Amino acid sequence: MHPVDIAGPRLKLRELTRDDVDAVHAIYGDAEATRHLSFEPRTREQVEEIVSRSMASADEQPRTEYALAVVRPDEGDLVGFSRLALDPHAQNAATIGFALRPDTWGAALGAETVHLMCALAFNHLDLHRIWAARAPLNAASAKTLLRAGMTEEGRIREHVFVRGAWRDSVTYSILDHEWRAAGAFAAIGDRG
Ligand SMILES: CC(C)(COP(=O)(O)OP(=O)(O)OC[C@H]1O[C@@H](n2cnc3c(N)ncnc32)[C@H](O)[C@@H]1OP(=O)(O)O)[C@@H](O)C(=O)NCCC(=O)NCCS
Repeated sequence: MHPVDIAGPRLKLRELTRDDVDAVHAIYGDAEATRHLSFEPRTREQVEEIVSRSMASADEQPRTEYALAVVRPDEGDLVGFSRLALDPHAQNAATIGFALRPDTWGAALGAETVHLMCALAFNHLDLHRIWAARAPLNAASAKTLLRAGMTEEGRIREHVFVRGAWRDSVTYSILDHEWRAAGAFAAIGDRG
């Protein structure tokens, strides 16, 4: 699917462009935003590379990665970076990740971002299952994933090597029929 353009009540997912580098760097270059992620803050050059790779992956056939901008259409700014990657080892499954600019936290935009990723996965890509992994200390992400209707599944021991040490991950998933049954946001990104 290209280009992605999926709107919710306050946010929209769209494809990244070269003009997004500074806005993505405001998130991926920020110590607070990356505290619980699997990498240390990125430099502007690294973010430029991430945006370029993301744009290139959008043109691949078949497309297996959706690295997208999360934007507030009303304010016209990019507030987040989200990524859905098809799982090469599982049928009709994908993993998601997301990060928002710290000044936007606390208004449940995280949960709406996950809903939009679910709409992409289930309404547009016909996936069966998506999953996410968070750092054990990432309490905000735990709330966001549960609020978005995901279920905690368990723990992957020493999943990520970051900041000089192995770190566990806590995993969550949601299935297509759970997403449809929840209904509340099912209208987001419907195939019209
Ligand atoms: C995770 C993230 C997307 C949440 O975004 P958000 O829009 O603030 O999320 P929500 O408003 O839906 O919910 C966050 C909840 O966590 C709470 N919270 C925030 N920081 C917290 C902390 N340090 N400890 C405990 N709870 C915390 C908030 O109060 C809120 O709960 P409440 O609504 O019950 O008060 C955002 O914090 C973020 O981008 N973090 C950095 C990247 C990241 O961790 N991504 C997830 C990777 S799995």
